[in-house]
Amino acid sequence: MKVLGITCGRKNGNTEILVKEALMGAEELGAEVELVSLNDLTLKPCTGCNACVVSLLGRASNGDCVLKDDFNFIENKIMECDGLILGSAIYEKGPTGLLKILSDRMGPSHDVAFRMIAKKNREEQGITTGKPIDERSFKTRSASIIAVGGSEWDTLALPLMQLTLISSHMDVVDKMLVNWTGLPGNILFNDEALEKARNSGRHVVKTLLAQTDRSLSDDKEKPEYIGEQGLCPLCHSKLIEIRNEDKNYPAICGMCGVKGTLNVVDNKVKFEISEEDKHHAHVFLSGKFEHGDELNNVALKKNPRASELPQMLEKYKNYLSYSKPEGK
Ligand SMILES: Cc1cc2nc3c(=O)[nH]c(=O)nc-3n(C[C@H](O)[C@H](O)[C@H](O)COP(=O)(O)O)c2cc1C
Repeated sequence: MKVLGITCGRKNGNTEILVKEALMGAEELGAEVELVSLNDLTLKPCTGCNACVVSLLGRASNGDCVLKDDFNFIENKIMECDGLILGSAIYEKGPTGLLKILSDRMGPSHDVAFRMIAKKNREEQGITTGKPIDERSFKTRSASIIAVGGSEWDTLALPLMQLTLISSHMDVVDKMLVNWTGLPGNILFNDEALEKARNSGRHVVKTLLAQTDRSLSDDKEKPEYIGEQGLCPLCHSKLIEIRNEDKNYPAICGMCGVKGTLNVVDNKVKFEISEEDKHHAHVFLSGKFEHGDELNNVALKKNPRASELPQMLEKYKNYLSYSKPEGK
């Protein structure tokens, strides 16, 4: 069993120390461990060219990214692993920019529902040319998320980190947020956080050992989650957006997108969702397939007036040229 640690922060910094603690915990239980520091990699931002999704859904090929950088390296490491410890320093209330780039690059092209559709299309159409879908996409994986900040400016950190893992359908079995850890190494004075991180690594391995024959499609039997319960009963996020204009669903989970209501029960705010709305959540395969349908039927649907577009675009193409640094 392989457990990969990805650390996004300073070399030998607080995040790296906690990720290493978690890896030590995983190793204690017999896992083979490996560490990648995202800062060692060159990752270009996604350009939105959509070549990956077209390759996957249009040609039933493997959804490779066309950008030439270190993405293949980290993608392969993620595909290879069974367990993941994802750590990030908190920058501007969220994860570091480089992790956000990885998150975009691991987006639609790594959506397991899209990959399942592509695999089915390939089989049904008897396509044997081109690169097949990476079978490792369909493994069940457990992950732990660790966010480390110098203050309490932290609201987007865990949700955005969890989003990085949503496409590949990883089960997040623990989340850990550590505040007030500014100077490098300061985390070493926080025994509780060190112990929690080590336990988190152990727990990732325990969930993997406990579910040897669980399939990726089995959303009902999720592995045990040991982090803070949060507000959303499905993804444990605390980030809920209020949408008062929608009478049926005045609240929506900022992480998994499930809609519900906020109510006060025993002086505590509760995010309540109905049984029939649960399957829309993006942490479930049903929610991912639904998203695929929405994209096909709405977002990517050709407008009946599409032939008029080139002429309509002229107005904007000819308005202003980009200001750029000299020589670019
Ligand atoms: C650009 C930048 C932005 C930061 N923004 C936040 C923030 O919004 N909230 C917070 O709690 N800490 C913030 N910090 C502090 C770091 O999260 C903190 O120092 C942390 O320990 C860094 O982790 P590391 O030691 O693994 O690099 C910021 C640091 C930097 C460099």
